[in-house]
Amino acid sequence: MTDGSFDLVVVGSGIAGLYAALQAHEHGASVLVVTKGAVDEASTRHAQGGIAAAVGPGDSPDAHLDDTIAAGAGLVDEAAARILVHEAAPRIADLVRYGVHFDAADGAVALGREAAHSTARILHAGGDSTGLEIELSLSSLARREGVTILEHTLANRVVVEDGRARAVEVFDTVDGRHARYEGGHILIATGGAGQMYRVTTNPPISTGDGVALAYDSGAEIIDMEFTQFHPTALVLPGVPVFLISEAVRGEGARLFNAHGDRYMLRYDDRAELASRDVVARATHREMRETGADHVLLDITDRDGAWLAARFPQIYRHCLDAGIDMARARVPVSPAAHYTMGGVRTNTWGETTVPDLFAVGEVACTGVHGANRLASNSLLETVVFAHRTVERLFRAGGDVPAPPARTPDARALPPLDGEREVPTVEGLKRLMWDHVAIERAGKGLATASAQLTRWAAAVPTPRDRAGYELRALLTCARIATAAALTREESRGAHCRTDFPELREDWRRHLVYRTTEGGA
Ligand code: FAD
Ligand code: SIN
Repeated sequence: MTDGSFDLVVVGSGIAGLYAALQAHEHGASVLVVTKGAVDEASTRHAQGGIAAAVGPGDSPDAHLDDTIAAGAGLVDEAAARILVHEAAPRIADLVRYGVHFDAADGAVALGREAAHSTARILHAGGDSTGLEIELSLSSLARREGVTILEHTLANRVVVEDGRARAVEVFDTVDGRHARYEGGHILIATGGAGQMYRVTTNPPISTGDGVALAYDSGAEIIDMEFTQFHPTALVLPGVPVFLISEAVRGEGARLFNAHGDRYMLRYDDRAELASRDVVARATHREMRETGADHVLLDITDRDGAWLAARFPQIYRHCLDAGIDMARARVPVSPAAHYTMGGVRTNTWGETTVPDLFAVGEVACTGVHGANRLASNSLLETVVFAHRTVERLFRAGGDVPAPPARTPDARALPPLDGEREVPTVEGLKRLMWDHVAIERAGKGLATASAQLTRWAAAVPTPRDRAGYELRALLTCARIATAAALTREESRGAHCRTDFPELREDWRRHLVYRTTEGGA
């Protein structure tokens, strides 16, 4: 029984889902987009700094590639990253064609600077409102083009029959009804899993649903030990965490600890523009050593008019919180920001389950390795969404080989009989305390045992919160198991008991279910 049948069923309406839907629609495919909140509820709308592309004078895709590989700490898939940087310009052109207005200066596109980029190469919109501009442009175009979008519709199962993904089962979060939509192909574009952590820049939708959907259907999950922490979030009691973009440091902002010491000078020659893992870890250590719950970001050498023009959203947000960035240093601290791991795909969006595809933050193409280069995420979504749709709907051409299953894929620790009912707050606290910027074997083992007890007692979901808790548990279990297994420090994964990078660990950890699945 089915409630509808489409050439492509897309789960998620951030940049990845909407861009893929629009591209497939252009190919004449029938497309359904299901999304668990309102159409524009997505991480995408919160993106600030912008989208990286080597389009400026003197820049080149190869320079962008070098920076991407250097940031990724030995785990970047070079072939995938080469595609990322070389296919950037036409994908930016697509976004412009879809109505995105990037900022310009002196008749040329304006380019910002972010950490670990060797040059200014970040296109932005509305100063610091790049994501909002993209999300609203794509969602309004998708509506105008007549793409079918079901809001408040949460995907809770990918149906696999005869070894292929055939359909998506959904739950209407308003009236509680269940439905099933068949797709010639299923595309997961559900974003990241930042909500695993007590402190995160991610919006409430980022609960790792797509990783859990894919894992439960038998697809492989890779690199989940690598969560990126952003060093500069404004964390105030009782209000959502708010990001202070790396682009602010790109414009010259400096970081000071509680003693007034510009500490980044002691950690890295690039100081505040060292790669994100380095700045987040240094900031975390300075806070611990000074006993403070924040450090201070200083851009007071810019005046209010300049700040209001370049960073209108951030400047206004800080003013509303009682901080005038032109006069006072901003208290900032690290927050979970980006899920580098996810559903393992090849460079055509294919997972290890036939007809199941994944694109965007939920996917792991290998371009980020152990530490994502700033503003490569929005770029990754459009480059690989484009290739996925080409793979599916372009007439002719070779069909690439799907990714082979990993022979030594791992399984999660078995449920050993001990049971305890989980709560989302408990999970977020556990992950923040034991699986965050710095981790060690003892804390990871504690977290793993607790997660196993919770997984054994997780209630059958009856509402959106229930489904999200179940998804978060799956993500947390994989992330913790992988972090416990990886006995080294690399990129965003810092083991205090194994502080060295180890050449024999230049490899990936892959998880695949042993129960059910494809
Ligand atoms: P999202 O935009 O998160 O969209 C996921 C969609 O899936 C949502 O519509 C959600 O409701 C839906 N969904 C989830 N689960 C389900 C389900 N079970 N059923 C149905 N629908 C579901 N990256 C950059 O490159 N540059 C930046 O400047 C930048 N700034 C950032 C600032 C912030 C504050 C944050 C949080 C992230 C930032 N990032 C940035 C990262 C980037 O925004 C994201 O990686 C990117 O937008 C992810 O896009 P996506 O389409 O994959 O996922
Ligand atoms: C930021 O603006 O600092 C976020 C950029 C990113 O996450 O790529």
